[in-house]
Amino acid sequence: MSQYDVIIIGAGPGGYVSAIRCAQLGLKTAIVEGRETLGGTCLNVGCIPSKALLHATHMLHEAEHNFASMGLKGKTQSVDWDQMKSYRSDVVGQNTSGVEFLMKKNKIDWIKGWATIPAAGKVQVGDETHEAKNIVIASGSVPASLLGVEVDNDKGIVVDSTGAIDLPKVPKKMTVIGAGVIGLELGSVYARLGSEVTVVEYMDAVCPGMDADVQRSFKRILEKQGLKFIMGAAVQGVDTTKTKAKVKYQPKKGGDEEVLDADVVLVATGRKPFYEGLGLDKLGVTLTERGQIAVNGSWATNVPGIYAIGDVIEGPMLAHKAEDEGMAVADVLAGNHGHVNYGVIPGVVYTTPEVATVGATEAALKAEGRKVKVGKFMFMGNARAKAVHQAEGAFAKIIVDAETDRVLGAAIIGPAAGDMIHELCVAMEFGASAQDIALTCHAHPTYSEAVREAALACGDGPIHA
Ligand code: NAI
Repeated sequence: MSQYDVIIIGAGPGGYVSAIRCAQLGLKTAIVEGRETLGGTCLNVGCIPSKALLHATHMLHEAEHNFASMGLKGKTQSVDWDQMKSYRSDVVGQNTSGVEFLMKKNKIDWIKGWATIPAAGKVQVGDETHEAKNIVIASGSVPASLLGVEVDNDKGIVVDSTGAIDLPKVPKKMTVIGAGVIGLELGSVYARLGSEVTVVEYMDAVCPGMDADVQRSFKRILEKQGLKFIMGAAVQGVDTTKTKAKVKYQPKKGGDEEVLDADVVLVATGRKPFYEGLGLDKLGVTLTERGQIAVNGSWATNVPGIYAIGDVIEGPMLAHKAEDEGMAVADVLAGNHGHVNYGVIPGVVYTTPEVATVGATEAALKAEGRKVKVGKFMFMGNARAKAVHQAEGAFAKIIVDAETDRVLGAAIIGPAAGDMIHELCVAMEFGASAQDIALTCHAHPTYSEAVREAALACGDGPIHA
């Protein structure tokens, strides 16, 4: 039996980052992971492989649509799907082995297998029981099931995101259920590969909860890229034959049930916390009404010595939110103060253009009765975005308190939005005003100038509009 200060269950971005921070703070740390490789959903079957596919297919899109106009002619592109998947696997492999290296470097033991917590202070993996002063549950999430829809990634007809990044071939017709982040990112991948992609969404706008201006522009841009949308439609079920599927949906406004034919159906209707097999029931760990592990402000569950972070607890299911909690809980366990500012967690959709948001939306602030001012700048006035054919429909928007000019939220749809949003995150963390951003020199020609222009739009007005 081995003894640790901390055992972390799950080696996704929440768990492995937490383990590294625990080790850096001098705690004897082990991490339990049942997958063959470290990195969790994000590195193995989520964020990272999908970004590789998004990058490769973006290149294809550029070659097909923009190369000729830039004077790049002559070579036709063809898709070698198996090679693209092997590139995707290489990228994943580099990252998962990188995490393994970091575990060794920080002297963190990787206990291979699936964990059970027989009692506080004990973690059982296979036949071995390990002891720890504290346990951190970072076991992540799995795709939520949809009534009447049976996912079978091996068959490759009705798949979730894991199946979708590894389809045996590029389908002719793909139906995506859910216009959330997964549906739009992977829908984009297949649309660029030549699939006829139809997205069926229950709500009336894509990416529910996002800034309304962004939602409208984002949908229009994706439609121009060839994605079709059926909005306000609830999928009721999917029937399959050996090679095809029929997606049945009910329009919200009423009328008869409609049917869509597809070669592949991607179910992207959300994820749910995963803690199966840990024995939380027996331990008496309290759950929230929505089935998440309930924690207090220090990520402690109701059972002393058991903590939880990431997708298993409340909040956005995002790798970086889990990482922040992982570092903060390590601080708590080392006797320091752990801090996460939940008001400043960016969200990014890695399509082209990218979409990035942080803080409150204009609609939410107005619903609260807050007096706000909005500064918006279209990338049509940004020279750099025009040079890369990504100005159309793209904009940066900053929402500030009408009296104090303090930045309360921001949304960007445009090139490199996922990187640019961090200027606004830092501004919000420092309690900056739009004027602070507007008075900061921004290099020319950069996409970031659009953020400064949006900040100027909160005051006397932008220059290039
Ligand atoms: P999501 O919650 O973002 O979107 C699900 C969509 O499905 C919603 O728009 C919902 O209205 C719709 N829907 C649900 N039931 C339906 C039905 N019966 N018929 C039609 N539409 C229906 O979930 P998604 O995209 O599966 O992502 C899961 C989680 O993974 C999210 O929390 C997301 O933030 C995270 N994620 C984040 C990424 C990123 O940050 N780039 C990438 C991939 C996932």
